[in-house]
Amino acid sequence: MDNEPIVLLSKREIDKMRQAGRLAAELLDYLAPYVKPGVTTLELNDVAEAWTQKHGAKSAPLGYHGFPKSICTSVNEVVCHGIPNAKQVLKEGDIINIDVTPIVDGYHGDTSRTFFVGQPSPLARRLVEVTEECLRRAIAEVKPGARIGDIGAAIQDYAESHGFSVVRDFVGHGVSRIFHTAPQIPHYGQRGKGKKLRPGMVFTIEPMINEGTWEVEVLADKWTAVTKDRKLSAQFEHTIAVTDDGVEILTLDPSLATV
Ligand code: MF3
Ligand code: CO
Ligand code: CO
Repeated sequence: MDNEPIVLLSKREIDKMRQAGRLAAELLDYLAPYVKPGVTTLELNDVAEAWTQKHGAKSAPLGYHGFPKSICTSVNEVVCHGIPNAKQVLKEGDIINIDVTPIVDGYHGDTSRTFFVGQPSPLARRLVEVTEECLRRAIAEVKPGARIGDIGAAIQDYAESHGFSVVRDFVGHGVSRIFHTAPQIPHYGQRGKGKKLRPGMVFTIEPMINEGTWEVEVLADKWTAVTKDRKLSAQFEHTIAVTDDGVEILTLDPSLATV
């Protein structure tokens, strides 16, 4: 995906991405109150799929390279790509990342948040808060002329200063009519390195931050990525556009206006 050209989107296409992104944010808002002890990850999937259909959209993950469900649900040591399952019951103190990507009129809105199930441990709370702040700091780097390495450096500096580690094996990505395309956006790296950002670039930033080692392992189901040491992992994701003078977050619900 990284030797493809980086396509710059027109104002019209960015407006399409804004509509898809907004629906994605609204879907996460809708799912939030369902995240409680006793719910299964399959129930969350089914609620998400029904809501997506009701809004005239399609779930991009379903059938994507054979992924079997409509959303990713990644609990505790699962880094990403957790598969919703009827046997997986959420319990008090878990953390769960829910990653959604509705397709609206051909365009993908890709966003995820990590939620607490009941009350988190102090460590889990710190990991999740640091991860969300990593995404905020990364977005603050985005403007024309900045470099892709600036994004990763901001994330890595903040995560590592809190004693956490940055996952290497999964990166942010260009997104539009295509789910995953150029550029790749590593969540670690060096300031001043990498390609220059230009107005019209649209990509995700989706740092996965681990309590222990950054190394991951993919389970026998070929999807579920877990931390090698089975310690906690958290993730937040937004789809953003580089604008003429900075950045626009496309996966926001304007009625809430939170980042
Ligand atoms: N939404 C994920 C991402 O952020 C991709 C999920 S692909 C799937 O890029 F096949 F696992 F759904
Ligand atoms: Co995603
Ligand atoms: Co993504």
